[in-house]
Amino acid sequence: MTTTVAGMSVPARWYTDPAIFERERTQIFGRTWQWVGRVDQVSAPGAYFTCEVAGEPLVVVRGTDGQLRALWNVCRHKAAPVAEGSGTVRRFQCGYHGWTYGLDGTLLGTPHFSEGEGFRRADNGLPSARVATWGPLVFVNLDPEAEPLERVLAPVGDRFERYPLDELVFQRDLSLEIQCNWKVMAENLRECYHCPSVHPSLTAAYEVEETHPEPVGDLDIMFIAERCASPTEQRGAPKDAAILSFDRHRVHETLRDRERRGSYYIHLFPNLMLSLGPDHASALKLTPAAEDRVVWSRQYFSYPGLPAADPLDATWEFRLVAYREDKAICEEVQKGLRSRSYVRGWYSTKEPLIRHFHDLVLGRMVEEH
Ligand code: FES
Ligand SMILES: [Fe+2]
Repeated sequence: MTTTVAGMSVPARWYTDPAIFERERTQIFGRTWQWVGRVDQVSAPGAYFTCEVAGEPLVVVRGTDGQLRALWNVCRHKAAPVAEGSGTVRRFQCGYHGWTYGLDGTLLGTPHFSEGEGFRRADNGLPSARVATWGPLVFVNLDPEAEPLERVLAPVGDRFERYPLDELVFQRDLSLEIQCNWKVMAENLRECYHCPSVHPSLTAAYEVEETHPEPVGDLDIMFIAERCASPTEQRGAPKDAAILSFDRHRVHETLRDRERRGSYYIHLFPNLMLSLGPDHASALKLTPAAEDRVVWSRQYFSYPGLPAADPLDATWEFRLVAYREDKAICEEVQKGLRSRSYVRGWYSTKEPLIRHFHDLVLGRMVEEH
């Protein structure tokens, strides 16, 4: 079956076929910048956290030289991990036979090991992957040939400089597992065509009819304004539209009028969405677990000088309702995608970012289309 048909979406089997899922893992997730953790977790020398990218175990660590590194968390002896969880160390020690490595990956100690023919200590350090940061977020890229993160982000330039990206303070996180292909959820996040039907509360709170979509390079940007400029203007919203009753006077002071009245949603291909609101920010990652399972995880940040918990507390229940609504519809969609009656769907005029997202997916899956 041809992969592309004008005006039509990618084939349904792209959401259900384990072989395509495996190709995506290496060709998309193994070659793009993947958000793995936060800068505050690795601010001190020796601080590290472990993570996984496209099935590869890694450890991100701050060296005594101040450098941030991403090392493969695989001992050169028999492939056991050299680090677990997170913490602070002076060196890594493998839990299996005790080989030790410096924070830059250099092999230091090989207890009770007679260095046999062909073994060279200098060749047996932990290999490193590329690492970069954006605001409070740490990214890793397994592809040595990939474009630098700053070049991927270049299209946005200094457009978001009024947001305090480098000073965001981590507050809390939320994680859900959803029984759908990662692209079903990635698409859901790139349109609000579904909002009036799926999210009545959200629709009362936001101007969902106009998402100001902008496809730019590997980014998809949306801006959605809040319906109410002030908390007193409820405009017939349902009672659970709690976001409308939040005191919006406490917004980040450098923001301009438009930025005070809505949120940007910046999607970095393939699986990160950074939201910048008037009083807080969040980052959402979709981690594919199988062709029909994705882990949706979001971290929330406050802005310096603003009350940490208030913006989130005031809107938490409202958010949970919207997340559950999306989870439920995406799981139904996944069932439909398995139906033999459905081969592929259509793009609406409200879904330009899905079209762009599919172009990016297809552009990466070069070998077989
Ligand atoms: S596997 Fe690491 S020391 Fe043996
Ligand atoms: Fe939604």
